[in-house]
This record gives sequence, C-alpha cells and structure tokens, in this order.
Amino acid sequence: MIVLIGYMGSGKSTVGKVLANQLKKDFIDFDQYIEAKEQLSIPEIFKQKGEVYFRKKESHYLGELLKGNSNAVVSLGGGTPCFGDNMQTIIEATPNVFYLKLSVDKLIERLQPEKSYRPLIKDIADEDLSDFIRKHLFERNFYYLQAHHILNVTEQSAEQCAGE
Ligand code: S3P
Repeated sequence: MIVLIGYMGSGKSTVGKVLANQLKKDFIDFDQYIEAKEQLSIPEIFKQKGEVYFRKKESHYLGELLKGNSNAVVSLGGGTPCFGDNMQTIIEATPNVFYLKLSVDKLIERLQPEKSYRPLIKDIADEDLSDFIRKHLFERNFYYLQAHHILNVTEQSAEQCAGE
C-alpha cells in the first residue's frame, strides 16, 4: 500500500490517481471512502454532526482501510494524520507513506478559490485566510514530517510528482 498525506489542496487525490494508474494499482480516496460509508458528503458531515463526530469516524475508518486492500494507492484527508494516534497507525501499516509538501504560498493560492466548500476554512474571512493556513500548516507539519518520504512538489505537475 502506498499512502499519500499532505495539507488540503496539495494534490493528494490527483497524484494518487495518476500513480495508481501507472502502477496498475487500485486507487482509494479516503474522503470518498468516508462519504460512502456515512452516506453523506464531508461538508454535510461537518454541518450536521460536527467535527468531533467526523474525527471519530475518520479514525475508525482509517483502521478499517489500512487493514484492507494492500495493493492500493490511498490518498488520506488533510487532517487524517493529525488526530489521536492516527499517524502512528499509518506509519506502522506501510513503509510507503509520502508527504506531498508544497510551499505555504502555493497552498494559499490553491485554496483561496475553493474556500467555500472546504468546511475548515469556509468561515474564515478572506483577509485572515493566509495567516490561518500558515499557522495551521505549521502545526500539522509536526505530523506530516513523520512520513517515510517527503517530496517537495511545489513546482511539479501531478505526473512529475507521481514519477518521483
Ligand atoms: C480536512 C481535509 C479534507 C477533508 C476534511 C478535513 C482537513 O480532505 O478530509 O474536509 O482537516 O484538512 P482533503 O485534504 O482531501 O481536502
């Protein structure tokens, strides 16, 4: 199993699809996996049940997913490694955990237009968004940097990133 982690907007799903195709493996998008299990979109889960409920389910389904299809490329949610002992679970499940690392400026540029449908940033005022992302990424890097492989992919296309 190959696991891709990284901040929202880092391209985990896009790169994961390209990589799975190249390696002739299955591709699993963990957000979609949760949505299918819960029969609700991620924004709806946040809205109707709240983040605490989402994080609880996320940890539960993570355990289930990592025990399953070992021939898959998996892209996790941006927050998945950052709660409870999820990161420990992830790095013990496979030696192939890759952090797709992008500069904070690139992430801000990508996330600005997608703000409204991302539950964690949708209520942040435009003028506060870059400060929020900077601080949030700094906190989350504590977890992301435990990945086995760190790829600096700020300037790369999905194909170049999958190649690396
Ligand atoms: C989240 C990232 C999202 C999704 C949820 C929470 C986060 O996944 O799981 O909105 O905490 O960073 P993507 O990184 O795939 O957008």
